[in-house]
Amino acid sequence: MSTLPPLKETGTAGSALVDRFDRRVTYLRMSVTDRCDFRCVYCMSEQMTFVPRAQLLTLEELLFVGRTFTELGVTKIRVTGGEPLVRRNILWLLQRLGALANLHELVLTTNGSQLEKMAPALRAAGVRRINISLDSLRPERFRRLTRVGDLDKVLRGVDAALAAGFDKVKLNAVILKHRNHDEVPALVRFAVDHGIDIAFIEEMPLGRIDDHDRAELFYPSDSILADLRPHFTLLPTTRDTGGPARYHRVAGTDSHVGFISPHSHNFCARCNRVRLTAEGRLLLCLGQEHSADLRRVVRAWPQDKRRLEQAIADAMSIKPQGHEFDLVARPVILRHMNTTGG
Ligand code: 5AD
Ligand code: SF4
Repeated sequence: MSTLPPLKETGTAGSALVDRFDRRVTYLRMSVTDRCDFRCVYCMSEQMTFVPRAQLLTLEELLFVGRTFTELGVTKIRVTGGEPLVRRNILWLLQRLGALANLHELVLTTNGSQLEKMAPALRAAGVRRINISLDSLRPERFRRLTRVGDLDKVLRGVDAALAAGFDKVKLNAVILKHRNHDEVPALVRFAVDHGIDIAFIEEMPLGRIDDHDRAELFYPSDSILADLRPHFTLLPTTRDTGGPARYHRVAGTDSHVGFISPHSHNFCARCNRVRLTAEGRLLLCLGQEHSADLRRVVRAWPQDKRRLEQAIADAMSIKPQGHEFDLVARPVILRHMNTTGG
């Protein structure tokens, strides 16, 4: 068996994860399942083949990976899916992640379908912030976009989240031309009325879908901003989340409106994140295929922290400089969003 080279020496504890472009990775997005109770038209095709359960990381393995990342300097973990709340016993994992010593923020992305019953338990587990997807406030349209979703249930979930006392509740809306672009002012109004933020997301070409031509329904952030101008005064902010969102404050309110434009490149230089798929593949960039197979490592050497640390540290050397999404050119990235979460 070969001897392992020492971990990269960085001088300060907790900063082991630095890539070739001097970006420090402090944020892990962890997909706990590729399954979902919705079938959003931009995310999935109608018939999806999900990963066989034996290929998913177990909850124990997810915890081991999450803990190891925090020991390497990751301070924020976002649990995502698919829909993370359909993973059985997810609270077991969240409670343990929430208790990790070096973790400052445990946050969650959800479609809201299970929040009505789970919100208090999530808060108690230590989830600090929660992002809820909400693309339409019209029941029929919501059903059409999610193929199966029940708007009322999700709205009750939003209320439950607000009542549960998270540090922050935020809405995410994917906007498609002619599907829901005319609802942009209503969605902002809803956010303002509830005292929360909303982020509008441009559709990303992740996975082949059968519902529509992505280039045809593309609706750029600039158009959303223009649509909002007659209704709201939007004040640009300097708020920097280290991510792709640009935020504006809605004048006279506590709400912010964010714009997530994955087609712009300017945030890659400050990228601080990596993604773990539910199968344990570590993706170094949402828009590229560079990855490291952490499942192989945790299954070959169960609970061997040293091996896992080494595999994660090694992966930093293949983190790409940036992504190259293209709505028209082929090939598109073949994985669907449900393998990585948003
Ligand atoms: N492009 C952009 N956003 C997407 N989401 C899912 N698939 C896509 C896609 N192809 C969004 C969801 C959710 C977040 C997790 O990612 O709507 O808000
Ligand atoms: Fe499920 Fe989210 Fe994908 Fe919709 S976007 S199908 S809610 S994982």
